Amino acid sequence: MDKLVIRGGKRLKGSVTVSGSKNAALPIMAATLLAPGEHILRNVPHLRDVSTMGRLIANLGAGFLLEKKKAILDCSEIKHYEAPYDLVSTMRASVLVLGPLVSRLGKAKVSLPGGCAIGARPINLHLMGLEKMGATITLDSGYVIAKAKKLKGASIYFDIPTVTGTENIMMAAVLAEGRTLIENAAREPEVVDLANALISMGAKIKGAGESVIEVDGVKKLKPLRHAVIPDRIETGTFMAIAGITGGDITIKNCRVEHLDAVVNKLKDTGMEFRQVPRGVRVIGPERLKAVSTTTMPYPGFPTDMQAQLMAMMCRAEGASVISEKIFENRFMHVAELKRMGADITIEGGIATIKGVKKLTGAPLMATDLRASASLIVAALAAEGETSVKRIYHLDRGYERIEEKLKSLGADITREKE
Ligand code: EPZ
Repeated sequence: MDKLVIRGGKRLKGSVTVSGSKNAALPIMAATLLAPGEHILRNVPHLRDVSTMGRLIANLGAGFLLEKKKAILDCSEIKHYEAPYDLVSTMRASVLVLGPLVSRLGKAKVSLPGGCAIGARPINLHLMGLEKMGATITLDSGYVIAKAKKLKGASIYFDIPTVTGTENIMMAAVLAEGRTLIENAAREPEVVDLANALISMGAKIKGAGESVIEVDGVKKLKPLRHAVIPDRIETGTFMAIAGITGGDITIKNCRVEHLDAVVNKLKDTGMEFRQVPRGVRVIGPERLKAVSTTTMPYPGFPTDMQAQLMAMMCRAEGASVISEKIFENRFMHVAELKRMGADITIEGGIATIKGVKKLTGAPLMATDLRASASLIVAALAAEGETSVKRIYHLDRGYERIEEKLKSLGADITREKE
């Protein structure tokens, strides 16, 4: 296993280009199962999760090739309908093949994803939606088995605006008979990108990005040609790095408008944002001012940026209160940040951070994707050397992170554990 070794304390300067969005690429790759033929998806990031999704789709009978950010998926011969435990257990987003498989083959057998470090993360809302569309759902030794001769349009209300739940039902609805309404739908940009990819295949979808999405089923779809949107969480992570190191970073090929809640919050810390062609220049102050926030579904402050903001607040001037409302256990980074000298107390889902003048490097352990990102953010501003072990968590969502950071002047190396 690899670890990253960082010697912090430098202001990072220069420009970096963000990769395509992991959380848009994954559902769109699953959507290719809906149409026979050769699909071409561009701006795909080279990440572990993308390779895992590619392997899963290939297991179902498709051809999959990823070269130079272009994914070619040939879904002419989809004959298997099982997503096995060994793949699903390494990537929860595997559940996204459920809707497309029931739609394409009339059946799907997908391992229940099980919990993960940040919470139980059930999929009851995905299954409720499919049942309303006429699927029979049975659970058998850790697998969900969904069957339907032909899915029918239905009105589906989500108690929680689930991102992958909205994506699964949208994909189940595009070839269903009649109209499907998804109410209290997730509004994330990745949901919109999936809708645009499906529309490029011939689907009839209205309202993606709003709370009510309307899908009129069509007879068949054609292979997609689509480019994935830039990764807004990678963009936000580089903003956090500019802020905490007092740096000056130009982030290229990003969609700043996908991060309004984050940019507004970071401006309150004293950071400066300047528009540049197809990107943004971000300048950090001498010392950040403390700010507070609560994570909410889009367009609120994203839970995927909570850990990175917390790392910034560890060295800010003043006290910050961060409330995590989306997942029940998304504070795994707190113990590691405290080993660096951070002053953080947790009460239920609320963390109070009292900014300290300096953080000191320490040996750390990554636990989940965004927690490991927050440790990198803190390490870049800490005095001395930090090593972050189990960096495979980070590789799931950040493409070549150490190369990008080196190009900004960071003293960082990847080493064998
Ligand atoms: C997506 O996960 C993202 N993953 C997550 O990003 C992100 O943190 C999350 O949305 C919230 O924005 C992908 O898009 C692949 P949810 P998802 O369903 O869809 C509860 C990352 O870092 N819920 O919106 O699994 C659930 O427990 C990852 O890239 C149910 O109760 O999240 C959670 O508390 C981490 N029943 C809340 O809803 C359900 O059937 C939001 O979950 C579904 C969800």
